[in-house]
Amino acid sequence: PYSIFNTARENNPVLFGNFLNSTGWLITGYKEAEFVLKDPRFIKEGRKLFPPEALATFSERVMPAIALTRNMMLFRDAPDHTRLRNLVNKAFTPKMVERLRPAIEDISSYLLTARKGQSQHELIRDFSYLLPVFVITELLGVPKEDRELFRKWSDAFIKFIDFNTTMDDLESVSDDLKEASNYFRELISKKRITPQEDLLSGLIQAEANGDNLNEDEMIATCLLLLVAGHETTVNLITNAYYLLLTHPEQLKLVQEDRSLISNVVEETLRFEPPVLMTSRWVAEDMELAGQQLKKGQIAFISLAGANRDPLVNADPNSFNILRESIKHLSFASGPHFCLGAPLARLEGIIALEKLVECFANPRLLEKPVWRKNFAFRGFEALHFEAETR
Ligand code: HEM
Repeated sequence: PYSIFNTARENNPVLFGNFLNSTGWLITGYKEAEFVLKDPRFIKEGRKLFPPEALATFSERVMPAIALTRNMMLFRDAPDHTRLRNLVNKAFTPKMVERLRPAIEDISSYLLTARKGQSQHELIRDFSYLLPVFVITELLGVPKEDRELFRKWSDAFIKFIDFNTTMDDLESVSDDLKEASNYFRELISKKRITPQEDLLSGLIQAEANGDNLNEDEMIATCLLLLVAGHETTVNLITNAYYLLLTHPEQLKLVQEDRSLISNVVEETLRFEPPVLMTSRWVAEDMELAGQQLKKGQIAFISLAGANRDPLVNADPNSFNILRESIKHLSFASGPHFCLGAPLARLEGIIALEKLVECFANPRLLEKPVWRKNFAFRGFEALHFEAETR
């Protein structure tokens, strides 16, 4: 997708046209993307801008899933966004996240011990998929035996918010999301009786303390955390390892100096961002980069395009962990800046440390295939060969 973003930016960093089956703005300049993400005149709740009769209609089967996503902070604007975000934010302070370090290290080592003696590996199946799901279910307080259920729900959500999903697909993924919602409703009722030391019990406590939060919002928050914290981190770990495998000279540098691993994580975020793009609605007429934006238009913000803007990163189309400074918008910016960024970074660093330590002479077995999705950037699978240490 990068050549499309680069060409668009060369034409105009704020370009009007037909993208992803909609007519709207494509933002590919770093400065412009950051501006849009921070400015409150660009909003999430586009439906506020149109009369009810102008809104897209959905079938009965899809409506519960729409209602569910409307309760997620990611799709709200202030003041509801601020209220929901503040409740969860408490669990994501750098200190709280640092407390997860030993658990993340143990889980990573445990998963890699299972690879000992094997020579062929599939990174997603054997490692990257499992680590974030362990961490997020641990954090939320989801019983271990239910972890497998999340793959289907996570896939469903990703399809649901992809910009290019057909109505038929939308109906079937909506059924999965309804199932996820029922699961969390049941889990909440169990935790009301026997609360534990986890994020979900914390939300229940907040509700009991009179914080303004209802059960539907609690369910939506759980699902959002599950998905936002899962697919993206799988892709960060996998994309990073792929980039090292395809840049052996840089892998060698990392093997010699592990302190470079945080650069690998940041440069991967910049170069192959797990979230390629997001969108906002224009809530007021305005001018941006010499273009006239009109109320009610949609803006697609290409985080991937912004990251490759030569005005902020020199030689942006090459992967280079030794860059002086790595600027990216892969966790967005402004009020919706990724809540889980410290956790994602910690998981990424620990995962790569363990992978570099465990595998000797790794080499790709076949060219991996990118999953077809306009919003998320990740592989179907990553097959490689390596001896284990
Ligand atoms: C929001 C990226 C990991 C939780 C976002 C957004 C981006 C993003 C781009 C903003 C979307 C927008 O403005 O439309 C990523 C990437 C990750 C990652 C690239 C991994 C490499 C995580 C993790 C968690 C998490 C581990 C939690 C456990 C969230 C939440 C939001 C969010 C709750 C919504 C924040 C809000 O609306 O205020 N993430 N994320 N993310 N992320 Fe992440």
